[in-house]
Amino acid sequence: MSNDTSLLDVRHVTKVFQVGGLLNGTKMTAVNNLTFTIEKNKAEIFTIAGESGSGKTTLSRMLLRDLEPTSGEVLFEGRNVTEIRKRHEFTAFMKKVQPVFQNPFETFNPLRRVEEYLLDTAINFGAAKDRKSAVPVVDKALHLVGLSLEELSRRYPHELSGGQIQRISVARALISGPSLILADEPVSMVDASLRMAIVNLFKKLRDEEGVSVLYITHDLATAYYISDRIAIMLRGYVVEMGPVEAVLGNPLHPYTQLLKESVPAPNPVDKQSWAQRIGLSTQEVKEYGQTGCKFASRCPKVMDICRQADPPDVEAEGRTVKCYLYK
Ligand SMILES: Nc1ncnc2c1ncn2[C@@H]1O[C@H](COP(=O)(O)OP(=O)(O)OP(=O)(O)O)[C@@H](O)[C@H]1O
Ligand SMILES: [Mg+2]
Repeated sequence: MSNDTSLLDVRHVTKVFQVGGLLNGTKMTAVNNLTFTIEKNKAEIFTIAGESGSGKTTLSRMLLRDLEPTSGEVLFEGRNVTEIRKRHEFTAFMKKVQPVFQNPFETFNPLRRVEEYLLDTAINFGAAKDRKSAVPVVDKALHLVGLSLEELSRRYPHELSGGQIQRISVARALISGPSLILADEPVSMVDASLRMAIVNLFKKLRDEEGVSVLYITHDLATAYYISDRIAIMLRGYVVEMGPVEAVLGNPLHPYTQLLKESVPAPNPVDKQSWAQRIGLSTQEVKEYGQTGCKFASRCPKVMDICRQADPPDVEAEGRTVKCYLYK
């Protein structure tokens, strides 16, 4: 779909990495022919879920212009982001597309007071001309996450809790008035008890501010709770994508079924146990190399054809599923 109603248009995006030396190394396709669209006038939470190494961060880095796709294109408001080269265009792009990272402490300079950093962020994005006029701008962003400048009271990052600092990093992302937030594992370093409070902020931003969120996570519990749509990634491929109620409520792909079963509901899974439970370390190398479906060696329903060629993307029961079972 290419039209001026799309906010983010990811078209057949592929990223191939050269692993090892040029002569004795191999090529690894971290993101394989990904296509999806987030509409402009319909804010939504779109989740990318999948185990470690499935290509989530690589995708996010391409969306942020931090990595260039090997093929395919990323359009933001109709513009190919790879073609953004001039400084003012880049600033304009970053105002609209803002990241929230896994480790909030890396976002903030430990030697600077948090409020000064936030005020300068407002100035740098042209949302205010000096620190004085930046105060209401920053305070508004902090209010959206349930905090205020007063509460920060000249503190340094280490004087704030992990949950507070992650809320502040969401506020930081809001200062420039973005239309899309890319949040890569924003709650994996936050206490399980605080995760819902943070992901709830995304819901609030969607509903009250019209901001769309691309939520990258291992955590199916929070994903189920907040997302509108979800894409399940495996070894660079999207194996199932559609409304979250369809995909997680009634998963069709055997891999999605396994992921769902391995969530010890209602607690969100942590990254380590997730990877262990599905035997990631032993399978990882093998799967990237194997022909056909990357899940074939672990799939309880594997058929001969699965090992011969990439499965097709099939439209079934209101979602897209990459699996021969539904052909
Ligand atoms: N710069 C790079 N050079 C070579 N390989 C890379 C590079 N960046 C990522 N990869 C590889 O690409 C694959 C996908 O990595 P990526 O970080 O996108 O996964 P992920 O889904 O974000 O994993 P996690 O859940 O652990 O964050 C991995 O096998 C990784 O080793
Ligand atoms: Mg990652």
